[in-house]
Amino acid sequence: MCGIVCYIGEAQCSHIILDALKRLEYRGYDSAGIAVHGTESISVIRAEGKLAKLDAALAANPLLGTVGIGHTRWATHGKPSETNAHPHLVDGIAVVHNGILENHLELKRQLEQEGAQFSSETDTEILAHLIARELPGASSLMAAVRASLKDVQGSYAIAVLSSAEPDRIIVAKNASPLVLGLGDGEMFAASDIPAILQHTNRVIFLDEREIACIDAQGAVIETLDGDEVAREPRTITWSPVQAEKGGFKHFMLKEIHEQPRAVEDTLRGRVSVETGDVASELIGLDDIGARRIRRVVLLACGTSYHAALVGRYWIESLAQVPAEVELASEYRARRPLVDPNDLIVGVSQSGETIDTLEALKVAKAGAARVLAISNVLDSAIPRMSDGALYTHAGPEIGVASTKCFTAQLAALFLIAMYLGRRRDTLSPDKARDLLESLLEVPAMMREVLKKDEVVADTARRYAGARDFLFLGRSLSFPIALEGALKLKEISYIHAEGYAGGEMKHGPIALIDENMPVVVVMPNDTSFDRILGNVQEALARGGKVIAIVTENSPHIDALGIETIEIPACPEELAPLITVLPLQLLAYHVADFKGTDVDQPRNLAKTVTVE
Ligand code: AGP
Repeated sequence: MCGIVCYIGEAQCSHIILDALKRLEYRGYDSAGIAVHGTESISVIRAEGKLAKLDAALAANPLLGTVGIGHTRWATHGKPSETNAHPHLVDGIAVVHNGILENHLELKRQLEQEGAQFSSETDTEILAHLIARELPGASSLMAAVRASLKDVQGSYAIAVLSSAEPDRIIVAKNASPLVLGLGDGEMFAASDIPAILQHTNRVIFLDEREIACIDAQGAVIETLDGDEVAREPRTITWSPVQAEKGGFKHFMLKEIHEQPRAVEDTLRGRVSVETGDVASELIGLDDIGARRIRRVVLLACGTSYHAALVGRYWIESLAQVPAEVELASEYRARRPLVDPNDLIVGVSQSGETIDTLEALKVAKAGAARVLAISNVLDSAIPRMSDGALYTHAGPEIGVASTKCFTAQLAALFLIAMYLGRRRDTLSPDKARDLLESLLEVPAMMREVLKKDEVVADTARRYAGARDFLFLGRSLSFPIALEGALKLKEISYIHAEGYAGGEMKHGPIALIDENMPVVVVMPNDTSFDRILGNVQEALARGGKVIAIVTENSPHIDALGIETIEIPACPEELAPLITVLPLQLLAYHVADFKGTDVDQPRNLAKTVTVE
């Protein structure tokens, strides 16, 4: 993972870079560093630990200069330490890198035989040695970087400084994200947009195997093969304030509370209650194309996978197309049978998750139509897809995904409705009713979010538990999985999500008086059966916390702890029931004092396999 940042212009850059790195810290945070062109040479400062350590190191030893690069690391090769932190400086060449060099052992052996001496355990240092080796015989730094990358296999987004060419930065990418930011007499580059949004909203995304030479006035972009690339800048509509905490203690809490707006924005302009339909350009399929689909396959990882599981129910019930969901990493690991009449949907908040990206490439090679659901404009997954349906959740900074999950649900619901209407499996009347209710979802979410304090109180009482069980049936099963994932990600408490029907097949053995059992049980067709699960858990001493629709029957008599949600059509319940689970995970973690926005061992965007 890791985050990289570059600045070139007239301002002193070390604090601009540090500030931008803080906005990328979600990508990795075990060490960090900055390299700046001083008057005569490149100076580097690195520190193990979070950026606060680098900040302190810079305060003690300021770096002066207006051209620089920075890095925040998530260790892949070599433990987190100052020597393994980037930038790596070799013979006046400083390099930062996000990605993994697959043939690093072979390259390192070769370089060592030629006399190179390595000071770190990283694969990145190889790049610095390769460029230093190429530079004397090359016509420019850009040519030296290009020549070095010829032998490199793997993923990289890199930025390179050379004391020989102090007025430029060379960047290049393959499989790891990199965006250029165009300022007024200054240029930026970064792994992600929020890093540079304070300074500019005009950006250019680099594509695979592209290289750029940046100076203060702009960038020359070429392919690694030397072809010119002419690409117009895009204007990003996210505001810098969206990337700030806005008075909340953590980004995650802010993002939980932003969900009504995220869903509203994702639906905006895409639905018509009057016609009972959703916008036709949504998935780029005309009526014939939509009718021709024989199967929908949803590919995703983590939280996006849970959204895809919900999407499968909707696609099958509303559009009556067989639908399958697969973990992207597993899909690509086998030889899946792909049919040209398949619609393959890649669900990815970041649009950069390597497993999802690679799985979609497999599907595309099988001539299937590929559709992306992503929150990041022009990221790798939408770029390689035949169509893209963007969620408009705004930047999500907390490592634990929340608002992008519900925005993904909204997008998946639209796809199911779109297909249902085109395939005549959804009547205009039913579609109108569903759309009317869908538009009421943000208001219902606001009602649930008012219960923040109630959930915090529950969380306080259970924060000491060692394990949690989450149960749900039907549409609530993926929500149980998501509740368990949220809790383990940020509180480090072991949690399992199970389908209620599976409880008797094993997990019931875990239940005793120490086991909180969170049951997602809105008033739907599975209600009576999940009520049975609650009774079984209670009979074994389990402490039940139930997410229920207000005024649900039989609940009061059980004397269990409840968090109520407003009544809504059962199809839409996942958009509502997940909110108390996100709040529960958040408050448990907050009481435990864990690092909510940057939980240990995780990174926001998983660009390594
Ligand atoms: C969610 O809280 C996670 N941190 C993680 O599971 C995430 O959903 C997963 O890595 C997929 O990311 P993507 O949506 O950006 O592809």
